[in-house]
Amino acid sequence: MWPFNKKKEAIIEPADLSWLGTDMHSHLIPGIDDGSPDMATSIELVRGFQALGYRKVITTPHILWEMYPNTPDIIRTGVAALRAEMAAQGIQMEIGAAAEYFIDEHFVEELAQKRPLLTLKDNLVLVEISTVTAPFDFKEVLFELQLQDYVPVIAHPERYIYLKDNKAIFTELKDSGCLLQLNMGSLLGHYGASVQGLAEYLVREELYDFVGSDLHHSRHLDLMSRAAGLPLLARLKASGQLKNATL
Ligand SMILES: [Fe+2]
Repeated sequence: MWPFNKKKEAIIEPADLSWLGTDMHSHLIPGIDDGSPDMATSIELVRGFQALGYRKVITTPHILWEMYPNTPDIIRTGVAALRAEMAAQGIQMEIGAAAEYFIDEHFVEELAQKRPLLTLKDNLVLVEISTVTAPFDFKEVLFELQLQDYVPVIAHPERYIYLKDNKAIFTELKDSGCLLQLNMGSLLGHYGASVQGLAEYLVREELYDFVGSDLHHSRHLDLMSRAAGLPLLARLKASGQLKNATL
């Protein structure tokens, strides 16, 4: 009898992340880091953000001196080329660029020389540290950043898994004026179960200020679609604590 018992096609609602407004962590500029390798891919990724409902993307190439020695000039030139190609293809979405600064000797030197940093908006600077081991002086570097009137936005704190037995540090960072950014893929176990566990803890403690995609390639678009339906993301949305839409 089964041929007569056809299952109805499941209707899959398109994922909607429009409530976030702005994505503030991605690697969309072609060929300058481990993100998009070429313009065609960048355009495909931009269209992916559009399909998910985003109004604006602030892309953040790595500045990690030993691997990706990017400068503000390189990044500005790159985003101008991307904007031009988007315009040529009639894609209407706001795109800006900042950087994801890795806290290394180069970054410390930039601070020492008081060279202007690329910001997400106003004085917000996206920074990351090693996911393998804590740099011995990262809290001092963050403090120096604040002394120069910047506000550190710490990228994916849940990925610094070596901090999981010292959870007080996350509250300490928040109390000292740093902001925290969740990678939405962390909630799906994309970076492993321990990272997922720490991300869940930080959501429950209401310590996140931003949600970012950290998108590097099209597989991350699938991840974002899946993340869109997660109860913990809905919880973040309902909390009113996220600042993405202010960017
Ligand atoms: Fe990133």
